[in-house]
Amino acid sequence: MSAPHILATGRCLPARVVSNEDLSQTVDTSDQWVFSRTGIHSRHFCQSETGLDLALGAARQAMERSGLTAADIGVCLVGTFTPDHASPSTACLLQRELGLPEDTICFDLNAACAGFLYGLQTAHALLPGAPRPYAIVVGAEVISRVMDMTDRNTCVLFGDGAGAAVIRRDETRTWHTVFGARGDQSSIRVQGPGPVPSAIHMEGKPVFRFAAEVVEGSIRQLLEADGLTSVNDLDLVVCHQANARIIDHVAKRLKAREGLFYKNMDRYGNTSAASIPIALDELVQSGALLPGMRVLMVGFGGGLTWAGALLRW
Ligand code: UT7
Repeated sequence: MSAPHILATGRCLPARVVSNEDLSQTVDTSDQWVFSRTGIHSRHFCQSETGLDLALGAARQAMERSGLTAADIGVCLVGTFTPDHASPSTACLLQRELGLPEDTICFDLNAACAGFLYGLQTAHALLPGAPRPYAIVVGAEVISRVMDMTDRNTCVLFGDGAGAAVIRRDETRTWHTVFGARGDQSSIRVQGPGPVPSAIHMEGKPVFRFAAEVVEGSIRQLLEADGLTSVNDLDLVVCHQANARIIDHVAKRLKAREGLFYKNMDRYGNTSAASIPIALDELVQSGALLPGMRVLMVGFGGGLTWAGALLRW
């Protein structure tokens, strides 16, 4: 029996906010189309900020709020599919900036929009063998660097940002998890590495169907594992923020009460691995997520991958 205890969270968004209206100046789209299809009004795009800047901003906040110091951290993981470099990893650069000890276990992992939950599970699994009992897990993306700003099918959907959590392993707690992958080269793809310019390509409809299937399936599996009969026995559901219609569809299928499923894609768009930790941080800071609450999280995206976790905050 053991589960991760999330001690503190943080988030960092680049300064520049781009609205649907702004995008409609350069591609044939409108706020009406984007908001009605996705629930997105605006997103943040990096100008001068790097992925490391975002990861560091979120991680520093989480570290300060945890009351820990760099000397307490034994694992540092960054979930990202848009790192600044193929090597060095963002996690190694973050280790240097945070002043984490040299024997800290540091690496990036790519599970796309499920990256934060894959990171949480990986950090939890690594902690017993790590030199110190605390881990920092970050989701950080600069998706604007792999976007074709002339492709209206994708450029309205994504945003940049980072979220972080400081965790320890708690042997008195339990959690339930579900992980999955369905290798698929066509539905979400980013070209490279190599000389070919990278641009994210997504077949929206099949991905929408995949997402609806795995989000509902993961929630049902997690409820059953915890002996719960209804999603309304939970205090909060935090899904990856790709599209409000996916969340609304699943909430309706599960007969969820109003407000149970958190949504913030209106201000951030789809920030991939960063979306769940950003949402968690907003909820904690607003006082909506309190110790003892039963929280279910589900991520899904490129790979294709998915991941879910049900734990007590
Ligand atoms: O994080 C990874 C997981 N990703 C997801 O979960 C995304 C899942 N998919 C979706 O969220 C939706 O499929 C989209 C939001 C991407 C698209 O919504 P849709 O209802 O599936 O629209 P569509 O692809 O069927 O496009 C309908 C029409 C097309 O025009 P035609 O071919 O019917 O004439 C598109 O060209 O809308 C057009 N369109 C746009 N029009 C205005 C596509 N993008 C835009 C746009 N503005 N930005």
